[in-house]
Amino acid sequence: MADLFFPPTLLLLFLLLSLLFLYLSQRRRWARDGIPPGTLGLPLLGETLKLISAYKTTNPEPFIDQRRDWYGDLFTTHVFGETTIFSTDAEVNRFILQNEGKLFVSDYPTSISNLLGRHSLLLMKGALHKRMHSLTMSFANSSIIQHHLFGDVDRLVRHNLHSWGHRVLLQDETKKITFDLTVKQLMSFDPGEWTEKLRKEYLQVIEGFFSLPIPLFFTTYGRALKARSRVADALRAIVEERREEKRQTWRGEEEEEDEVRKRRKDDMMEALLQEGLSDEEIVDFLLAVLVAGYETTSTIMTLTVKFLSQNPLALAQLKEEHEEILRRKQGSQTLEWSDYKSMSFTQCVINETLRVANIISGVFRRAVCDVRVKGYTIPKDWKVFASFRAVHLDPQLYREARTFDPWRWQSSSGSGGGGGNAAAAFTPFGGGPRLCPGYELARVEISVFLHHLLTAFSWKEAEEDMLVFFPTTRTLKRYPINVVRNSAASHRTASNTTCLSTN
Ligand code: HEM
Repeated sequence: MADLFFPPTLLLLFLLLSLLFLYLSQRRRWARDGIPPGTLGLPLLGETLKLISAYKTTNPEPFIDQRRDWYGDLFTTHVFGETTIFSTDAEVNRFILQNEGKLFVSDYPTSISNLLGRHSLLLMKGALHKRMHSLTMSFANSSIIQHHLFGDVDRLVRHNLHSWGHRVLLQDETKKITFDLTVKQLMSFDPGEWTEKLRKEYLQVIEGFFSLPIPLFFTTYGRALKARSRVADALRAIVEERREEKRQTWRGEEEEEDEVRKRRKDDMMEALLQEGLSDEEIVDFLLAVLVAGYETTSTIMTLTVKFLSQNPLALAQLKEEHEEILRRKQGSQTLEWSDYKSMSFTQCVINETLRVANIISGVFRRAVCDVRVKGYTIPKDWKVFASFRAVHLDPQLYREARTFDPWRWQSSSGSGGGGGNAAAAFTPFGGGPRLCPGYELARVEISVFLHHLLTAFSWKEAEEDMLVFFPTTRTLKRYPINVVRNSAASHRTASNTTCLSTN
């Protein structure tokens, strides 16, 4: 009994009571102000460690599921240094996305902005964002893909697959493919020494996004900042070269235009030059598009293969779809736009991979004023997280939501197998003014990749590999597979040598 009055015990008791008091008064204040219920977790750290440890496993769902059960579809928590309202409600998510630039603005920490560059599309706001977003959209819309990019996608995917050995780390290979494709789209370069060097630097930049933001020369983040400035230098040199080329054309010093120069007139860099942007603006812009399109598309390519490996029925049906295309083309490897348009089951498989994997698990926004939604208030300046993952895995919307079932997308309404709202709730590419400008291009790239993989190879998982979700969605061992080239495909490749144009 005497121990209870021992000073350290008293102090501890006092601290505990103060925390309880703070907790109760904060809950009362939130209830009075209409703020969604929840908990802030530990001082300073909040619930960050709980979130991270959940996302480092194969099953991060309990973090959100438990809180949704305890508090409802909107709840408040404290992660990554800030009080944040999580939305797991499809309608609220749509409302958040649609009101970008009006009630909410996208918000990235300074450590991320430093890597992206302040002129990147992801950081632009207002009228400038609107203009540059629509310019980016116009460079990846169906018509541009069909008439300008499709041939390159087909050719570069084949080129990459052609170099495969017997065992590949699929995650690395798909990254090479998407990097080459994006560089081609942005500045008309074919893969070569220059692009490979750029890619290696760029990999270091990407690591910076998922590291502790300590800018010292020996930290991952510090090295990423250095690599970023080398990537920027390399891009700046290309921009200057292009400007010089244009000046020569105006002065009439240009020899007759060759094919490569003609092609460059249609690429993204040319459009940015014509917009009258400065070198720095162009460099930031290009770098951010590379960041946005690379990790996402390559991860979906890898995970599609992983999910198919575990679903022989889906794999067989998809293989049949692609072999039928090959038969129709009497064995010609070169794909055309009409072939892509006939890949209907492929689109179901891609949708389902996007739904189950949720590589962009949601988006952060900041409220610019007090926002009333579904009876709650999101206070001005508070952060919100629109969780796509929670919606995409909601059993109310998608029957047996945790199961990979591409056939759910075949129903006549395309509803995702859970009623009419499921299709509207499906937002792997976001929505509203920041809708992903690469959404169609990503589908095309993944479809073409699947076509050549399925018709030229068979594969087996070389080792068991685990899917985790922090710091990004990825497999822990970069998904090693053993591949066997089909004999018919080897024959076709030999008689159809892959040929790359020079830069
Ligand atoms: C499977 C592949 C992809 C997925 C799942 C994906 C997903 C997304 C999502 C969810 C957003 C919205 C972010 C927000 O609202 O804050 C976004 C934005 C963006 N994406 Fe993609 N993306 C993919 C492929 C691509 C590709 C291939 C490109 C390049 C052409 C690209 C370029 C961009 C850009 C530039 C933005 C920023 C748009 C803005 O802030 O206005 N993405 N992406």
